[in-house]
Amino acid sequence: MSGLYARESRSVSTMAHLRFFPQAVVGGNGAYLTGDDGRKLLDFAASWGAASLGHAHPAIREAVNRALSDQAGASYLSTANEPCVLLAEKLLSLVPERARGRVWFGHSGSDANETVARMVVAATGRPRILAFDGAYHGGTVGSMAVSGHPSQQGARAKNLTLIPYPNSYAAGSPDAAKDAALAHLEKLFATEVPPQEVAAFFIEPIQSDGGMLVPPDGFFPALEALCRQHGILIVSDEVKVGLGRTGRFNAFAHFGIEPDIAVFGKGLGGGLPISAVVGPEAILNHAVAFSLQTVHGNPVCAAAALAVLHTIERDNLVANAERTGRVLREALDRLAARHALIGDVRGRGLALGVELTDARQTALTVYRAFQLGLVLYYVGVNSNVLEFTPPLTLTEAEAQEGVAILGQALADVAAGRVDEALLADFAGW
Ligand SMILES: Cc1ncc(COP(=O)(O)O)c(C=O)c1O
Repeated sequence: MSGLYARESRSVSTMAHLRFFPQAVVGGNGAYLTGDDGRKLLDFAASWGAASLGHAHPAIREAVNRALSDQAGASYLSTANEPCVLLAEKLLSLVPERARGRVWFGHSGSDANETVARMVVAATGRPRILAFDGAYHGGTVGSMAVSGHPSQQGARAKNLTLIPYPNSYAAGSPDAAKDAALAHLEKLFATEVPPQEVAAFFIEPIQSDGGMLVPPDGFFPALEALCRQHGILIVSDEVKVGLGRTGRFNAFAHFGIEPDIAVFGKGLGGGLPISAVVGPEAILNHAVAFSLQTVHGNPVCAAAALAVLHTIERDNLVANAERTGRVLREALDRLAARHALIGDVRGRGLALGVELTDARQTALTVYRAFQLGLVLYYVGVNSNVLEFTPPLTLTEAEAQEGVAILGQALADVAAGRVDEALLADFAGW
């Protein structure tokens, strides 16, 4: 079906678009997508991490087919269903003791974070929320309200205070970044933000949409100690980098902290819409009929999520993310040594970022990579960080293939071989 992209523009609204190049796909398998022009595209984005097992994974197909062949309703609002109960039991086994209470299910990272933001205030009676500058916790009114990403066009909540996320590269050293962010927080606590009024601190263990920023050693433990001292709940937004992507099942586990509440989404459904909030019973059972949408907890998406978690375990995909991520990282480090456009390479496992020295060149690089057969998007508060969130099933050969394409794209951009006019219709973010 060629010409799909142009047809789309005549029928589909642009309001959800976040486009970097004219990509139109008609299918996909594993780490590859099939373009409407028949091209095979290596997918290093995996639909922003949602296609956690790649495309058309047989385990998800079978689970969805089974759930639909004898369908236990379409919702968990007014009836229990087995896939949801099994999924809740499984998720409870995957979080630290302090979060092991109850599970709420939603459709997306956005509705999950919005629910948490309302729930922690209602359950604790404390009015304030803390989060980080550059944080992306979602695109609904309530999740945008507790986010700090500059691309967003929604209002922040009046009860939100944003803290700088420690950026080791920008600050010149991890210690400088850590000390500045902690000093900022301690000063706020001593002045305009009384800590006893704070219900929760939303963190991203690695700040992905803000630029794939990895926190300096010791930062989160110090933050955790402050939160414990003041009875502030820690909410770990694992939506993009959790579920094995970083080479540990939970991303927060890299940094030696244990959140009270963990939020999962994106890759949980392997491409189907489902999110989950896991946390203490006293918070998660605070009220009934508090946050609900009709097909929340539907057995089809829950079955897909169970298949995702089962496959991650069965196929050792956490270890694969660690191992293949190391191969990818080393190849990117070698590229950095050859390309002056690259300022920094960072991340963990298969959640990697490459900061370029210039936003325009970043947009040109992803465009050129697409022309050459690689799907890669960019993130960052300055729109200059290439983001790598490929399927957890990525092989070392695929990692090398992608980096070779990226190397060519960078060389073409540096040599001025990519026409800037191509970007006219692709604002990105
Ligand atoms: C860390 C994080 N949290 C929440 C969200 C929102 O998830 P969704 O867009 O699936 O609602 C995102 C999306 O980019 C994210 O990266």
